[in-house]
Amino acid sequence: MNFLLSEEHEMIRKMVRDFARNEVEPTAAERDEEERFDMEIFNKMADLGLTGIPFPEEYGGIGSDYLAYCIAVEELSRVCASTGVTLSAHTSLASWPIYKYGTEEQKQKYLVPLAQGTKIGGYGLTEPGSGSDAGAMRTTARLDGDHYVLNGSKIFITNGGIADIYVVFALTDPTSKHKGTSAFIIESDFPGFSVGKKEKKLGIRSSPTTEIIFEECRVPKENMLGAEGEGFKVAMTTLDGGRNGIAAQAVGIAQGALDAAIAYAKERVQFGKPISAQQGVSFKLADMATSIEASRLLTYQAAWRESEGLSYGKESAMSKLLAGDTAMKVTTEAVQIFGGYGYTKDYPVERYMRDAKITQIYEGTQEIQRLVISRMITK
Ligand code: CAA
Repeated sequence: MNFLLSEEHEMIRKMVRDFARNEVEPTAAERDEEERFDMEIFNKMADLGLTGIPFPEEYGGIGSDYLAYCIAVEELSRVCASTGVTLSAHTSLASWPIYKYGTEEQKQKYLVPLAQGTKIGGYGLTEPGSGSDAGAMRTTARLDGDHYVLNGSKIFITNGGIADIYVVFALTDPTSKHKGTSAFIIESDFPGFSVGKKEKKLGIRSSPTTEIIFEECRVPKENMLGAEGEGFKVAMTTLDGGRNGIAAQAVGIAQGALDAAIAYAKERVQFGKPISAQQGVSFKLADMATSIEASRLLTYQAAWRESEGLSYGKESAMSKLLAGDTAMKVTTEAVQIFGGYGYTKDYPVERYMRDAKITQIYEGTQEIQRLVISRMITK
């Protein structure tokens, strides 16, 4: 067993860390305030090969692995969680299912531009009445000649409105729940597709979250992803990997908050010495660092298992559960260490705390992770 990262992983970490510090961090607070997505940052990520990390070169990727991908999401989220989730949704939720279930034609047409970063990806599962109960969706897909016709709407779509390609789930057999669900690849300029309300959010505010709407949306038959009726499995297996991307995001947010808290605690003098030298604060820092390290190890382990072709659904749910709770706890403690200053927008920790909350909610709430884990360990 070896816990050291390979030279390639260290190199990717250094490259992404430099990029994050130089190109992402300087505008993170401003983009958060203005709820502004920056296409230039995405284009630069594409230039660096970050948009296709785990996919083979023949499909536009850089042929690395899921650990490298997690390291990239972590380093981006360490300075800007919005940029982290843009990459995570793009890679795990849009590109991955096409890589896993797509035909050769679908991979050439959709995965290649996604991995190269000339197109952005999104994923449409959640509906107003179907969140944790993903199988309760109402969006339908009716066959009409050589097209499927989609009707319905999806909400809380990460990369909504900026994505060119969405992997979307709809009922091809509305009389059947899981087995009546199919997956589709949707282009944003298909007739009948539109982008609805953009959410105003507590955190990850420079990552757009919107509704997407299908009104008699005509989708060529060949854009079904996987077999008819296989959509629920496509959705669930996609989330198995996606959850670990969110764990990586959470680790990055927590690490960013700890970095800021340590720097501040070493400078802030009260009662004649830095607060980092006072046990009330130094013990907090120790607990924060310990929780982050445990979360990181679980996240890297799940990523490693996926890269090795081992099962990773349970580990991914565990990493998301632990890292999400860690991010919330660590960022809250960071605000506490900063005291009144931490509650203002003069320091980044309030943003980290707002951003952390979503990691306990999306890609399956913490309660759903517990459901997934408990089912797996008791079956
Ligand atoms: N892999 C493969 N197959 C799976 C699977 C998995 N991980 N999980 C379930 N299945 C299969 C089951 O084997 C079963 O198949 P059979 O009918 O052939 O036996 C079928 O799917 C139904 O499974 P369940 O009975 O377990 O389904 P359920 O209705 O009880 O739901 C659930 C299971 C885990 C609760 C699921 O609904 C779920 O994950 N809910 C949370 C949804 C979620 O995570 N949403 C996130 C939205 S995306 C997002 O948040 C992105 C973002 O913003 C960045």
